[in-house]
Amino acid sequence: AASDPDLVERARVARAALGDRAFILGHHYQRNEVIDFADVTGDSFKLAREAAARPDAEFILFCGVHFMAESADILTSDAQKVILPDLAAGCSMADMAEINQVEDAWDVLVDAGLGERTIPVTYMNSSAAIKAFTGRHGGTVCTSSNAEVALRWAFDQVGGLDGDGKVLFLPDQHLGRNTAVLKLGLSLEECVVFDPRRPGGGLTEQQIADARMILWRGHCSVHGRFSLQNVEDMRAAVPGVSIIAHPECRHEVIAASDFVGSTEHIIRTLEAAPAGSAWAIGTELNLVRRLAQAHPDKSVHYLDSTVCFCSTMNRIDLPHLVWAMESLLAGRVVNQIVVNEDDAHWARVALDQMLALPG
Ligand code: 13P
Ligand code: SF4
Repeated sequence: AASDPDLVERARVARAALGDRAFILGHHYQRNEVIDFADVTGDSFKLAREAAARPDAEFILFCGVHFMAESADILTSDAQKVILPDLAAGCSMADMAEINQVEDAWDVLVDAGLGERTIPVTYMNSSAAIKAFTGRHGGTVCTSSNAEVALRWAFDQVGGLDGDGKVLFLPDQHLGRNTAVLKLGLSLEECVVFDPRRPGGGLTEQQIADARMILWRGHCSVHGRFSLQNVEDMRAAVPGVSIIAHPECRHEVIAASDFVGSTEHIIRTLEAAPAGSAWAIGTELNLVRRLAQAHPDKSVHYLDSTVCFCSTMNRIDLPHLVWAMESLLAGRVVNQIVVNEDDAHWARVALDQMLALPG
């Protein structure tokens, strides 16, 4: 639906009045009405770099979800303020790994004598506390656009891919499994799932000892909806269709897709595709709809037959953005995201490690 023209006008006025004091970042899953006001759009990796590259902006307005705003706070200076226009914009996947659960899981590994040979890697979609845990234990953050490089680096730290070192991958089991199996060549059997709700993660000591990837039992509820049946139905309905999906989808979906990648990668792939080509996209619906609009010369389909928004990304809407901007102009800093100093320090170690990865 078109936005209220009065609100759009208020947004224009407030944006102009803030000028260079503010920088607005928009994740690719944001609503059109918000994307229209973003200075930069991107996937989580690009947005983390963009936040770090704006030292002159007093306010970073982060139109995305909580863990992204936390990372921006960690990567910016103390004088800069990161604002999340709606504090309810969380991420259900990030919420699936709590720091005390992860500390307990680490104790299980240490008790099994595997502490020295295990390195944590956390997906960007995790709390600052989990990133700090990762930094304290010598690991790295990764995103969907650098997971392969990050995992290769991590295995190198514990004796190489041919050795017997292990990665504890937090919190998205699908990204971890998809990358390990389809990019690194590990077997499905070498990937085990640690369930924090069960004693010992629900794994025997032997299972843990034999594993190379210990995957946290987390997933994205949006991407979890795509199924192998969707892929098969799409291929039957649209002959010649290319399927491109986000690596948060289940393994059987990714294994049956033609292309896989981050939101930014999906956008670039569509841009490079020839006119007349047909695409089915397995990711959040705001982005897929924008891609369909941007490429009228291609036939762009949504991989699922139902509506699949990320409800927390959608919490950020124009009313919240206008409220945040007008508040800042009135001298009230609202919805600032501040990570405590200790977590910020160690999370930064893990984020800097990611930013230093090759590629
Ligand atoms: P990207 O890094 O690909 O933008 O993914 C972020 C995310 O939350 C996907 O669900
Ligand atoms: Fe989290 Fe999934 Fe939404 Fe991404 S799409 S922010 S992983 S709930």
